[in-house]
Amino acid sequence: MSFEAPHFSSRDAVVCRGIGKTWAAGTKRAHEALRDVDLDIAPGEFVVFLGPSGCGKSTLLYLIAGLEEATEGLVWSFGDLVETPSPQRSLIFQETSLFPWLTVWQNVSFGLAIRGASQQERRAVAAEALQRVGLKAAMDKRPDELSGGMRQRVAVARALAMRPKVLLMDEPFAALDVQTRARMQDFLLDVWRDSGASVLFVTHHIDEAVALAGRVVVFTSRPGRIKTIVPITLPRPRNLFSREAEALRIQLTELLRDEVDRAFAEQEAMGATA
Ligand SMILES: Nc1ncnc2c1ncn2[C@@H]1O[C@H](COP(=O)(O)OP(=O)(O)OP(=O)(O)O)[C@@H](O)[C@H]1O
Ligand SMILES: [Mg+2]
Repeated sequence: MSFEAPHFSSRDAVVCRGIGKTWAAGTKRAHEALRDVDLDIAPGEFVVFLGPSGCGKSTLLYLIAGLEEATEGLVWSFGDLVETPSPQRSLIFQETSLFPWLTVWQNVSFGLAIRGASQQERRAVAAEALQRVGLKAAMDKRPDELSGGMRQRVAVARALAMRPKVLLMDEPFAALDVQTRARMQDFLLDVWRDSGASVLFVTHHIDEAVALAGRVVVFTSRPGRIKTIVPITLPRPRNLFSREAEALRIQLTELLRDEVDRAFAEQEAMGATA
């Protein structure tokens, strides 16, 4: 299969053109998750994906990560066609996925082990990444000795250890309590500023979108299409109690409400026929 040379700037961190994804395409179980998604992400941008459950947010991250193939359209990253996973694009999954039998530092440097790096090099890279998430002291512990928030920080350190240019984060803080989540958001903003990476962050929480995003991509219910993109220009550090922040929360809540209602109705109908 041959492709035309991309006609957009090769400096774009991510470019999605005409993306569609039908799971199990061509079978009786075919299930359209995404349709006609066009999206450009600049280097160093912080973009949040907001949309009802099942609208295809995780699916889009998998396509950008190169873990799944789009049924329609193409994804590029820094001018290269995305066909396979790359260490330039790290994905932090919706559920924490640390290996319980490895220590914290071995988890963090797992990607380097696959590349054949020496133990000494892996430990040094892991130490640096763990320092950035404030967990260097926990290097030799095992995941089950850590709290949920600490485990998520280890997952972030593991992603950072590969020095990605694009960090894909799928509801990474969803399982955390409200206070820990707020701490993790501050911490993530620090990491983002230091790393210069583009962050694509999925959440259901409107508060989280307003706290983090430079742009919020709001998706329709399934098949997910981009309903609208809301830029957030509030200066950082953000005052989340300001009138502007409140106005954004109201705007995003209204944008989501119809889509969530539609998604619920569809899921109920599917349940009735299952
Ligand atoms: N591996 C798969 N095989 C078949 N269908 C899938 C697969 N993964 C997801 N789907 C379906 O594709 C649609 C989009 O799923 P996806 O996980 O991307 O949604 P989401 O927006 O991330 O939802 P949530 O907010 O609940 O995490 C859903 O209807 C889901 O059932
Ligand atoms: Mg998801």
